[in-house]
Amino acid sequence: ATAAPPLHAVQPDHLGVAAELAAQCTTLDELRVAVEAFEGCALKKGARNTVFCDGNPAADLMIIGEAPGRDEDSAGRPFVGASGQLLDKMFAAIGISRTSTDAKTACYITNVVPWRPPQNRDPSADEAAMMLPFLHRHIALAAPKLIVLLGNVPARALLGATMGITKLRGQWAEVEGRPALHMLHPAGLLRNPINKRMAWADLQALRARLDEV
Ligand code: URA
Repeated sequence: ATAAPPLHAVQPDHLGVAAELAAQCTTLDELRVAVEAFEGCALKKGARNTVFCDGNPAADLMIIGEAPGRDEDSAGRPFVGASGQLLDKMFAAIGISRTSTDAKTACYITNVVPWRPPQNRDPSADEAAMMLPFLHRHIALAAPKLIVLLGNVPARALLGATMGITKLRGQWAEVEGRPALHMLHPAGLLRNPINKRMAWADLQALRARLDEV
């Protein structure tokens, strides 16, 4: 049982279907197929592609973003646009890359929702809640040692956070029994570069923790 945000418009049957489908998946490939086939989330209708993951599924580190934007929707991969380029630079600075074949230096990347919301708005609480069973299963199957939660959306969806990310950043929480660090979202850092020093401090803390696992 997970503490989900309020479920105003969520159709209970769809949520039940999501939970059942997710539970049946025993591999990440099966989970991708199940997500791609899931019709219970309205975001899918407006999206060109399902954005499931990128990076190395064996990585010690799993990074969870918010939702695909325009570039990700076109490419079918997370974090390929401007914020993705900054994300890659940030993690390169602590020796982590999505293309690494070594679990110690690799990362695995997904988002709270796999479909682009219209006008790049945040996914609603209902949309996030609908996809939450798949996200929980995604984490369980990837089985990372550490998790990074980028921005407000994963904090709210996975932890029911009520504080904003500028308060939460740098704090460790627990998701699926794994340590999870709240960090500023690279899209926010592009808008407010002054906050990069805080992101840098959080990356250093993450590096230290990665060295221990
Ligand atoms: N922002 C996100 O949160 N995820 C992406 O995949 C791209 C931008």
